[in-house]
Amino acid sequence: MNRFLIAPSILSADFARLGEEVRAAEAAGADWIHVDVMDGHFVPNLTIGPLVVAALKQVATRPLDVHLMIENPDRYLEAFVEAGAAALGVHVETCVHLHRTLAQIRRLGVRACVVLNPATPAAQIEPVLRDVDQVLVMTVNPGFSGQRFIEATLPKIRQIRTWIDGMGLEVDLVVDGGIGLDTVEAVASHGARAFVMGSSFFGSGDYKRFVDAIHAKLKPYEAEGARD
Ligand code: DX5
Ligand code: ZN
Repeated sequence: MNRFLIAPSILSADFARLGEEVRAAEAAGADWIHVDVMDGHFVPNLTIGPLVVAALKQVATRPLDVHLMIENPDRYLEAFVEAGAAALGVHVETCVHLHRTLAQIRRLGVRACVVLNPATPAAQIEPVLRDVDQVLVMTVNPGFSGQRFIEATLPKIRQIRTWIDGMGLEVDLVVDGGIGLDTVEAVASHGARAFVMGSSFFGSGDYKRFVDAIHAKLKPYEAEGARD
């Protein structure tokens, strides 16, 4: 069993063959399927809604990790859970009543994930660490795949890892944006244990070889990684 989780972001998949792409990603060793929902307000881009998540759910056997880059996420939580999301990620920047939103996600029976933009300090999520199943640190500004990894996010990853371990919590620390063979070691060495990958994964040509290469890079960090 791998200690590290690979979450291909279907934003970089071939949308005309989405079902096949999900099957291929799973066959290559994807642990989660990451689904990027964008509203054209919180982020400039527009992507997909609950209908597409429901279609993905027909095909996927791994959990659908739904990342909501939308204003007013409370309005859509139920719709995405009904569509088949296994986890819902909400940005701290979009939630006025963050604790309430996270509690509502758990009440709906799915994993609650809190997400921070690169310029948002870690301190913003410390008060809710006991109320989440995942923390997702954005390592690019959300909105598009294929952007360059922002190194200044590394100390924040380490800080959050220290809090999670110090409090003895079972929280998955996830990174998203610009992660690939060149950057995965840096984020792993700072405490990330789950990796969203869009362009590096779907642009690799051979998904299985890519996943194996990522796990090979992560091998030295397995001893530090507490995840079973
Ligand atoms: C960015 C999305 C990411 C994106 C990652 O706003 O949240 O999930 O698809 O793509 P890469 O891995 O290409 O940066
Ligand atoms: Zn994402």
